[in-house]
Amino acid sequence: MTQDELKQAVAAAAIAYVVDGEIIGVGTGSTANFFIDELAKIKHRIKGAVASSEATAARLRGHGIDVYALNDVAALAVYIDGADEITAAGAMIKGGGAALTREKIVASVAAKFVCIADGSKLVDTLGAFALPVEVLPMARAAVMRRLSTLGGQPKLRLKAGSDAGFITDNGGEIIDVAGLSITDPVALEREINQIPGVIAVGLFALRGADVCLLGAGDGVRTLTF
Ligand code: 5RP
Repeated sequence: MTQDELKQAVAAAAIAYVVDGEIIGVGTGSTANFFIDELAKIKHRIKGAVASSEATAARLRGHGIDVYALNDVAALAVYIDGADEITAAGAMIKGGGAALTREKIVASVAAKFVCIADGSKLVDTLGAFALPVEVLPMARAAVMRRLSTLGGQPKLRLKAGSDAGFITDNGGEIIDVAGLSITDPVALEREINQIPGVIAVGLFALRGADVCLLGAGDGVRTLTF
């Protein structure tokens, strides 16, 4: 099976976690896009969705699914999203698609976080994927100096085909920190959260996944945490 077929398989399996009559929290990225396309097939069963990015909101609306502002929603039964890396304990690196801040916020109001990922995302130790950190642009250099002291190599994410920094949906910039071996993701998430100028770090360990649907050649494995 190709990686896209594995993503498609976990996206289809995630429909079992959709709660009828509810508003669903929806993540961002290629796996989340497969999920949105699956969700469209059962859109009559849900009230609508809260999106974790402008791109996800546009795709949901394109399928005729009502998109709610998070401020208008008191709670979500479930949040469904991909990951860049996930451990057997449910801690994740997210933000490859630059939506980490809204993903973390939307996930924080959901009763259950269902991660959907192809099997290549399961790792023993987080950090081979450079850790994304969203920052206020005026704090970029100061935050990069602080991140260097953690042992990684911080690099500003650039807009495709340009020397300018990539700008997120929130007006932030992304610093990708390579070369980390994250043995205590909860402690590192807390530490990076404390750096002035950081909007959010793409470590999802304080609030990790509750379930992970992992795609493999022999089917979809369900990990529960
Ligand atoms: C976006 C994310 C994505 O969930 C993560 O990058 C995985 O993406 P994909 O499903 O395309 O592999 O965190 O900010």
